[in-house]
Amino acid sequence: MIWNDRPAEPRNWPIADAMASDPAVDATWLAPDRTDYPAMRILITAAQIQKRLSEMAAVLAPAYRDRPLTIVGVLTGSVMFLADLVRRLDMPLRIGLIQASSYRGETTTSGELYVSPGLMPDVRDRHVLLLDDILDTGQTLKRLVQDLRDQGALSVKVCVLLQKKGRQIHHVEVELVGFEIPDEFVVGYGLDYNDEYRQLPYIAVLPAI
Ligand code: IMP
Ligand code: MG
Repeated sequence: MIWNDRPAEPRNWPIADAMASDPAVDATWLAPDRTDYPAMRILITAAQIQKRLSEMAAVLAPAYRDRPLTIVGVLTGSVMFLADLVRRLDMPLRIGLIQASSYRGETTTSGELYVSPGLMPDVRDRHVLLLDDILDTGQTLKRLVQDLRDQGALSVKVCVLLQKKGRQIHHVEVELVGFEIPDEFVVGYGLDYNDEYRQLPYIAVLPAI
């Protein structure tokens, strides 16, 4: 590729070691010049995630069989989870996406939540399975469940890949959880830090770099 713009500063990218050690990750994904950076501390490997998704799909498929199902993913964190899960659901379903952003000021831990109205899928007379990457305080999911009910969904159930232990403040009934994790800040498989690291195929605790 030929680039005419100024090259960005080289960045530390703690990806290679962790990916290389995971048999579920295709070694050809690895950039060969990125082996000298610190490794992530992997909490859940790509193989563990994929195995758990098959188990989750086996629970969900019979529960929604013969029901008009719309799977609604919360942007952006749920995109990997959504994409991998729906490919295991061999049944008619629709996919919707919803965007929610919380404004968290410096003095408050949970601020206003803004839900983009333009993206709201039409869920009238549909059963909704709401997917998110992680249940933390519960603020986001509590609000979205209410919004989807208000839109006329027949039912709204919640499924999260991760649930952080001891963090829930807002009560949300969760139907299915992939993994319970300790109260640590994690990235990968959709989860971000400053909008980066989402593409990692595993869940890891971000090292101090
Ligand atoms: P809640 O509304 O407090 O439950 O927060 C949910 C959102 O916070 C998630 O959808 C994530 O975007 C974000 N979040 C919470 N914990 C983490 C984490 O450990 N890593 C990355 N994002 C997180
Ligand atoms: Mg999120």
